[in-house]
Amino acid sequence: MESIPKNRLFALHWLQPAALCYTFLMIKESAVTAFAPGKVILCGEHAVVYGQPAIALPVFREQAKAEVLLTPGKPFTIDLPDIGAAFTLAEAPAAEPLARVARLTLARLKVEPPPARLTIHSTIPIASGMGSGAAVATALVRALSRFLSVQLPPAEVSALVYEGERLWHGTPSGIDNTVIAYGRPVWFQKEAPPRPFHTAIPFTLVVADSGVAGVTKDAVAGVRRRWQADRVTYDGYFVAVGEVVREIYRRLTSGTLVGVGALLDENQRLLAAMGVSHPALEQLIAAGRAAGALGAKLCGAGLGGNCLALVEAERAEAVAAAMRRAGARRTIITRVESRQKEART
Ligand code: PMV
Repeated sequence: MESIPKNRLFALHWLQPAALCYTFLMIKESAVTAFAPGKVILCGEHAVVYGQPAIALPVFREQAKAEVLLTPGKPFTIDLPDIGAAFTLAEAPAAEPLARVARLTLARLKVEPPPARLTIHSTIPIASGMGSGAAVATALVRALSRFLSVQLPPAEVSALVYEGERLWHGTPSGIDNTVIAYGRPVWFQKEAPPRPFHTAIPFTLVVADSGVAGVTKDAVAGVRRRWQADRVTYDGYFVAVGEVVREIYRRLTSGTLVGVGALLDENQRLLAAMGVSHPALEQLIAAGRAAGALGAKLCGAGLGGNCLALVEAERAEAVAAAMRRAGARRTIITRVESRQKEART
């Protein structure tokens, strides 16, 4: 990474209005890059909205990348070439999620917008339950704060990203910003601080995209409607999901995968009963199981989007291929390490 010579920094400093002086003193590099992973919900989605626990995992195979480049004399600009969008922070509307996250980050650092261009790329599929919005916002917060020579702790990154999530999703549970900002498996329950944890045993997942667009808001609203119509049955589903999640957590943290596949299958059965599965997902799940997956379920809001299969590492390619033959638009093989290896952020 290129350092700015002190004399150049000094000259730039004098060319800027007084309000920018402090900002400039914080800039040590003319370019910085930061990353953030995608995520999947291993278990507990939907029931988590009703107070049950859920477990989410970072997916380092897919990442968002934010790069900040010093552009002396130019206004702070956010550039999203993947979707053909670019805007200056000064002109972005208050409800623009990334602009909001950038403004809050600058306010947290007590600085003016620097003369810089922040460019974001992401390989995380959009609107597929892999947390692309939260990942892009996390990469933004990390890159911008690093550009201004501040390393924010995960809890603060997560809180800033949550404000963008609110604009994207209305009343999100906070699971995406937490798992992505921490970059570790997270035990999540509403009204309680999220608990990042280490699994005591590594494991491999195949994540398969059904190619059907599932809309989180619709899926959540549908479950709420059905819950309102039949609270006893749905409360029963939610409690049963909570038990599955607790049992999976116990096994992962005590170092055994025995029975985890069957627990994932049970979670899928409950999700289907709640009405959030989809024939395309059922087809991929069946194909994954038939090819030797230990268990499989939809992940995220459902009605489309992704599903995941727990696999023995040596079966991963075969399971992924079977799921593609069954119609998966794309498959990702991801490994969750027992002590997540130092991830690039
Ligand atoms: O599809 P995703 O990853 O955004 O997950 C939605 C998870 C739900 O439990 C259905 C909703 C929520 O806000 O937790």
